[in-house]
Amino acid sequence: MRSGTPVLPRRLGHVLCLDDFEVAARRHLPAPVFAYVSGGVERNQTLRANEQAFQQREFVTRVLVDTSKRSTQTHLFGRDWSAPFGIAPMGISALSAYRGDLVLAQAAAQENVPMIMSGSSLIRLEEIVQANPQAWFQAYLPGAEEEIVALVERVKAAGYGTLVLTLDASIASNRENNIRAGFSTPLRPSARLAWQGLTHPRWLFGTFVQTLLRHGMPHFENNHARRGAPILSANVLRDFSDRGHLGWRHIRMIRAMWPGRLVLKGILDDRDAQLALDHGADGLIVSNHGGRQLDGTVSPLRVLPAIVKACPGVPVMIDSGFRRGTDVLKALALALGAAFVFIGRPFNYAAAVAGEAGVRKGITLLRDEVSRNMAMLGVSHIADTRTARLMAAPGAGQD
Ligand code: GLV
Repeated sequence: MRSGTPVLPRRLGHVLCLDDFEVAARRHLPAPVFAYVSGGVERNQTLRANEQAFQQREFVTRVLVDTSKRSTQTHLFGRDWSAPFGIAPMGISALSAYRGDLVLAQAAAQENVPMIMSGSSLIRLEEIVQANPQAWFQAYLPGAEEEIVALVERVKAAGYGTLVLTLDASIASNRENNIRAGFSTPLRPSARLAWQGLTHPRWLFGTFVQTLLRHGMPHFENNHARRGAPILSANVLRDFSDRGHLGWRHIRMIRAMWPGRLVLKGILDDRDAQLALDHGADGLIVSNHGGRQLDGTVSPLRVLPAIVKACPGVPVMIDSGFRRGTDVLKALALALGAAFVFIGRPFNYAAAVAGEAGVRKGITLLRDEVSRNMAMLGVSHIADTRTARLMAAPGAGQD
């Protein structure tokens, strides 16, 4: 657990909040890689709505509450974490940051927050859970039943205690921004890509060349029980199965064979939340995939109260668009009722520009914001934030 204070290199002295990592990463990363991480879909309507949803709620603060001994410690799934937030799963993190998933896992272990390992990743899932035994694994289900079984068996054998199934990606979404920026999976060698590498030498040598020299060509390692396609290849055939035919019977099948905690991610309708509980889910993550799937999808914050109401006693977690301590506290507050918050992109950027120290710094900055804001809100414990009041901002309307 926590050892030392994370120190950023001098060139990152301007980083004061999570958003500042994005500014640094935009300069550091080749444009196609930055576009992959930062982008949404089509008109980016959902990406923007996620951010705006927080402005539609305002705090009603309390005064003269002794908050001098406040703590951000948060209980979730039988364990105390140092903060009410963790790291959301992000695909191909080892392309933007050297050993990206490992860096995220180690920083999360050091800072005692949960980290969810993405199945769409370039480092073997076994290596991540060895580095951080508290990490969760997030799977994109393969299309064929025998492949689902083999993948879940592999995750179980690796020792993960929590399996997250992402359900909002039944087919590939329309990432026009990726195509415009020259990003594809696998990445196709081209003069444009080479130029992007050469003009971002810190990334080229610190991440890409370093990875090739020490670990060989990265492959998709965890979409299936077997190894998938290489990340750089002239062959554009994607490695991802079509999952459009999957249904609740597959959740039932997985529940029967998975002894650990089962979390369903990408739920937005309270009827699906109810079905999730009926099929044995231990928790939900209300999410629109950071605005990366169906453009025009509702922001998770808006549907949270209905889902919390439909799921008494089951942790309802949330992600998509969280950047500030105030955002986190709004989701936990009385009217909304989240149990926990997950945040993705800013930690990816932090890993890209400053490795483990960067991610630890990001976690520390956000935890400090939560703590400072708790004092101004008039609460001492995370459990008490759940009694904090929110009001609709002028013009926000009623949900
Ligand atoms: C992967 O999860 C992605 O959204 O690109």
